[in-house]
Amino acid sequence: MRNLFDPRPKSSRSELFDRVDELRLLDKSIGKPLIVVLGIRRIGKTSLVKSFLEPYNGVYIDLRGVATRADLYERLSEGLSSYLSKLRRFIEGIRGIRIMGFDVEIKWRGADSVSLLGLLEELNRRGRFIIVLDEVQDAKPPISAELKNILAYTYDHLSNITVILSGSEARLLGSFMGVNDPESPLYGRYFVEVNVRRFSREESLSFLELGFRQEGVKPPKDVLEEAVGFFDGIPGWLVQFGRSYVDGIHNMDVIKEQAISTALSELMRLSKRERMVLKAIAEGAGTWGQVRRFIEERNGETIPKSSLTRIISKLESLSIIKDYEFLDNIYQKAARRL
Ligand SMILES: Nc1ncnc2c1ncn2[C@@H]1O[C@H](COP(=O)(O)OP(=O)(O)OP(=O)(O)O)[C@@H](O)[C@H]1O
Ligand SMILES: [Mg+2]
Repeated sequence: MRNLFDPRPKSSRSELFDRVDELRLLDKSIGKPLIVVLGIRRIGKTSLVKSFLEPYNGVYIDLRGVATRADLYERLSEGLSSYLSKLRRFIEGIRGIRIMGFDVEIKWRGADSVSLLGLLEELNRRGRFIIVLDEVQDAKPPISAELKNILAYTYDHLSNITVILSGSEARLLGSFMGVNDPESPLYGRYFVEVNVRRFSREESLSFLELGFRQEGVKPPKDVLEEAVGFFDGIPGWLVQFGRSYVDGIHNMDVIKEQAISTALSELMRLSKRERMVLKAIAEGAGTWGQVRRFIEERNGETIPKSSLTRIISKLESLSIIKDYEFLDNIYQKAARRL
């Protein structure tokens, strides 16, 4: 079993801290066609879905950067390979699937090949199967469009398959699911929604105490309290703090600074205008008009109305802000430096 402060996503229920309610809801939803797991960055979505999957026949696929069918098949065979010990009997003998030692090869061209749909149909025939698609909103064309159609087909016809989509809130719902877009293949489909929430103060404290106990380190209580306050119940930050402290960095300012610069380097990938808008909101602009005025005064630049609206909804869809508030105060601190 891995320690709590291991930076990789957890993948078994014994490694997972808490999430009892979320797991119960997920367990109860097996057999439903579609589950959507939502939450801000570092909140523990991947850990939750991977750990959830542990006792079931199923596969986890990370779709970041997947653009072509070949990419998708590669991720799928990696996913099947990594769960091979429990899946061997379930997938043995499926046309187009070859198990070689510890590797699963999917043949998707030529004789004896299998299409994705064919594969799903065969899995469905064999019994309950769970497919977790993580960061599905980051799949790129052309495969992203194809995926939506396949998911819609699975939803309607393959009753043994449960699909779990996970990712950051608005982007997943808005751009991938197309909740507001009647043209989208997944429009109007009912799904179970699981929100991964932050830890309370007490939970954060227990999280840190357990993590440090596993590492044999005992920071003073006031350091723990300070970290709990600053990192605000977001496990990814708590892990980063724990790791740094265990590695000998005991100066809280240095640890906080690390987190802020991590966030800042992510924000630097946004466009110049997007950054100006975030800066304005970080400095307290709490309405559309205030953001516009802030930028005019500070940068001497007037952002056209429609652009400003678009930028704000993009920042919301990235789960950085909502209603002119930051969802994670580390990002707010980072944005002040933009
Ligand atoms: N319930 C938990 N118990 C133990 N560790 C956790 C838990 N939730 C998250 N973590 C840890 O926090 C970090 C972030 O978790 P994870 O990668 O699962 O989050 P995420 O929401 O998928 O993040 P991202 O938005 O970056 O994909 C990892 O180091 C992970 O091990
Ligand atoms: Mg993740």
